[in-house]
Amino acid sequence: MTIENDRPGDLDQLALLCTGSDYWNTHVDESRGVRRIRMADGPHGLRVQDDDSPDHLGLGRSLPATCFPPAVALASSWDAELVAEVGGAIAVEARAQGVDVVLGPGLNMKRSPLCGRNFEYYSEDPLLAGVLAGAMVRGIQSKGVAATLKHFALNNQETERMRVSADIDPRPLHEIYLRAFEIAVREGEPWMVMSSYNAINGEYASQSKWLLTDILRDEWGFDGLVVSDWGGVYDPVAAVAAGLDLRMPGSATNEKVLQAARGGKLDVVVLERVAARLRQLGERTASIVPAPKADVATNHALCRRAAAESAVLLHNKRGLLPLDVTSVKSVALIGELARTPRYQGAGSSAVNPTRLVSALEALGDAMSDVRFEAGYRLDGVADDTLRAAAVEAARAADTVVMVLGLPAVDEAEGHDRTSIELPAVQVDLLRAVSAVSSRVVVVLSNGSVVTTAGWRDQCGALVEFWLTGQAHGEAIVDVLTGVVNPAGRLAETIPLRIEDTPAYIDFPGEGLHVRYGEGLYIGYRWYDARKMPVDYPFGHGLSFTQFDYDDLVIDRHDASDPIAFTASITVANVGDRDGAEVVQLYVAAPSGVLRMPEQELRAFAKVRVAAGRSERVTIAVPRNRLRHFHPQAGWVETGGEVAVLIGASSRDVRLRSTLDLPNKPLSEPLTMWSPLGHWFAHPQAGPKLNAVIDANGGMRGRLGDLLADPAGRDSILGIPLASIMQFPRIPFSEQDLANIMAAIDPRP
Ligand code: BGC
Repeated sequence: MTIENDRPGDLDQLALLCTGSDYWNTHVDESRGVRRIRMADGPHGLRVQDDDSPDHLGLGRSLPATCFPPAVALASSWDAELVAEVGGAIAVEARAQGVDVVLGPGLNMKRSPLCGRNFEYYSEDPLLAGVLAGAMVRGIQSKGVAATLKHFALNNQETERMRVSADIDPRPLHEIYLRAFEIAVREGEPWMVMSSYNAINGEYASQSKWLLTDILRDEWGFDGLVVSDWGGVYDPVAAVAAGLDLRMPGSATNEKVLQAARGGKLDVVVLERVAARLRQLGERTASIVPAPKADVATNHALCRRAAAESAVLLHNKRGLLPLDVTSVKSVALIGELARTPRYQGAGSSAVNPTRLVSALEALGDAMSDVRFEAGYRLDGVADDTLRAAAVEAARAADTVVMVLGLPAVDEAEGHDRTSIELPAVQVDLLRAVSAVSSRVVVVLSNGSVVTTAGWRDQCGALVEFWLTGQAHGEAIVDVLTGVVNPAGRLAETIPLRIEDTPAYIDFPGEGLHVRYGEGLYIGYRWYDARKMPVDYPFGHGLSFTQFDYDDLVIDRHDASDPIAFTASITVANVGDRDGAEVVQLYVAAPSGVLRMPEQELRAFAKVRVAAGRSERVTIAVPRNRLRHFHPQAGWVETGGEVAVLIGASSRDVRLRSTLDLPNKPLSEPLTMWSPLGHWFAHPQAGPKLNAVIDANGGMRGRLGDLLADPAGRDSILGIPLASIMQFPRIPFSEQDLANIMAAIDPRP
């Protein structure tokens, strides 16, 4: 069919709308009310480029903007309100720079600690990632700027990210990888979603109707615009047909789409829908007038607070922290990273910060006697002179603060890491320093996990700051001196060794395929199932105070309520400092049908409790968080008895209780392909089948003998009915079975 065109040039115009006009902008169509829309990276601050020298890899310098803590740090706050506040601040800067769309947040799952872009992502747990990314979306969009959930979906590695196929089974696909996006879509209601570069089970995400239309729009109710990742469309016509609205970057023509529309291969209705979505995006992003004013100093202060609140106190064995600025006489500040901060990762998310404060600057301001020594080189080359000077400074000082971490080159978009170890020169230096000082505090700066197992006993206190954003040094000093009581908790497990990690064998795949062989068992789900020791568990983080948990009360809601149950707990701050605790609720739902993780995070709450006081915390668990994806039956709700575990981390469960959920326990629906044993066990089908068998003289011959023999019985009970029917002299017919099926509920 050839399209009749009553608006000359209109198909050209419609085709153009499906792509950008250049690197960052869309085309305009005044007759359809479609205005120009400007986009910019990225998740933790703006990267607005000069239109004359654009790039999508963060190479060219961009206009100054506040560099907030990247997702790896914000996730450790477990604080949705804080994340939303940062989102709002990014959006205000976006409006000030004429940007309508922020290309973030990124919420791909941390399948392997080696993924080179983990610093841009939130967690190994889909609930935590989804809730926090949803909060970021809410924050950004509250100021009239569109947020973009990316990279949809299964972009969990950088190696061959544009060609690899993520090969995954239905259950982990839905329960882990898509679930994070589903939660963020439902909680944040984003106006944009970005498709990923990779393929999923052999089909490119950018041209998957199943992903972009059936799941995203029809199942989850997304009503915004889908944009491609930059250069991530391989067949522009298939992409538009699948539901990808905007191919970026773009140019002055969109030939393939135009020819397909002219030839009737692409329905004009699809193109009109793209235009309508662009118009809607233009309206949504113009909804708040006038634009709120950006304030560099206020945003820097927010950056400082967010970074400090996201810091994770891993250990404080000798009670070294917080440092008392009045009694500590002299500090040796050691580490090149104290002078040259690692505060963000490299690539498209890289921000040109409005300010940058190093630990050297900030500690120098806070304390009078601070001696700095670089100690090591960032290129990893051993330097005996630097090392000796640092050891000397440590020996002479009252307290040592060492800033250790990963060099920038280790963590960048476009490549994965090969190790989770700190550079050897740094570990070596720490050993030498700890030999001359018993008061060593280690501050870590890295965007993806480093194992501390081999060296953590060399320091009295260890704080993981991840990547802090631009207020780097100030956030460090705030935590070390106790101005901020650390309340961060690990959003990902720190493993003992790379060989222990779930995707170790399958990452990053081969022959352009990466098999998700660990299935559901990502992060703590893996270490728990295998009862493996870890360096620090998911959810771990200490405080300068202590919290007690007590009085767990579970309130089961009616089956018609979207909330399945609430759990109330009293959290008491029994120390002498105000602090914040992250109460984590895990559910263990055993099932005879699906193999279940030992426990799964289903809700959490961050609560601030003043010293000596207690707070009653109530956490609601929505029913849909308790669903599991049965490979044949699709989504099924957990039913029957489940355990509710309240923990201060995944391995520090403080209170537990059981709960009987109204649904039936997970079960496989009965079909003709179900084994004889399942038919017998089914409460309605079993008696009916037995009655038919008895009426027809019972099981006879070899089958009957085996059934009566304890050693042979299971071999017969395991045969599917469809197969048993093919044996001679079976005492029931296909018609009998059809009658039974018609009279029962196949799901017991
Ligand atoms: C990245 C995206 C980014 C885009 C535009 C791509 O290389 O994967 O996250 O938004 O470039 O810079």
